[in-house]
Amino acid sequence: KHKIILDCDPGVDDAVALMLALGAPESIELVGVTTVAGNVSIDDVTRNARGLLALAGRTDIPVYQGCSRPLMKATGPRASVHGEGGLGNVRLDPTAVPLGDKHAVDFIIETVMANPGEITLCPIGPMTNVALAMVKEPRLAENLREIVFMGGAAFSPGNSTPAAEFNFYVDPHAAQIMVSSGAKLTMFGLDVTRNVTADQSWYAQLEAMRGEIPPTMARMMQVYAKGDPCMHDPCVIAWLIDSSLFSGVDAYVEVDHSAGISFGRSLAYMTEKHRAGRDINCKIITQADSVAVFDLIAQRLGSL
Ligand code: BDR
Ligand code: CA
Repeated sequence: KHKIILDCDPGVDDAVALMLALGAPESIELVGVTTVAGNVSIDDVTRNARGLLALAGRTDIPVYQGCSRPLMKATGPRASVHGEGGLGNVRLDPTAVPLGDKHAVDFIIETVMANPGEITLCPIGPMTNVALAMVKEPRLAENLREIVFMGGAAFSPGNSTPAAEFNFYVDPHAAQIMVSSGAKLTMFGLDVTRNVTADQSWYAQLEAMRGEIPPTMARMMQVYAKGDPCMHDPCVIAWLIDSSLFSGVDAYVEVDHSAGISFGRSLAYMTEKHRAGRDINCKIITQADSVAVFDLIAQRLGSL
């Protein structure tokens, strides 16, 4: 079983990832949700995270607000595909879930240090909170169980620029701090998530399901799918539930954070020659059984 902190910027696919985690209590204990500016502003992502937990009736799970901007830039770019407010134009009432009274970075540090070797960190937005936590507490990486993240594109083009995937592009310096931290890393970049795309029949299936959650999620996803049909972030959670749905390769990964056309690009050193003594630091997931991933999502959203 995985004890996770979901560090997110909901965002429609983040919302699906959160619901999927809630729908898998046998595999995942969600100890807290932390928010980071990314797809939309910090106020919007925090309101959305609280609203989603409220929708699921999980007022027991705390939400902590994190960084409102990347490390080195005054503001980050936003991802318009998530619609007005970030949840595909769906508005949720956050009031049932109070906002935690400390910063996300401090919640991450305190939780990890109080549970050495037990916490899996799941960043599915820009890595700003993760990097700041690592800078503030240098022992953080060695006290984590692992980091399973959505970000980067090692073997395929980016989505923000030809070189860079959105989460890495928003805060490449933070991404580089994370990948060079020494923590055990599993990467879900566009190499794999781009292949996890839904079709209309799948949305129709969700819409026809009973309960409030599946049809609400289907409405969000249909708005989002007009700009981006990929379920990026839920792959991270699906892996924790059933890693046999995926496969990948081992590499040394680093992130280009120098100004230029490759700003935010993730680079994979695959051969010993290229690694030249550098240790493998990451498993890069490259393949998914996307039909099975969608079945899993539908089944688990339906259980909520
Ligand atoms: C990533 O960018 C965001 O728009 C999604 O939520 C996902 O985390 C995909 O590049
Ligand atoms: Ca995200």
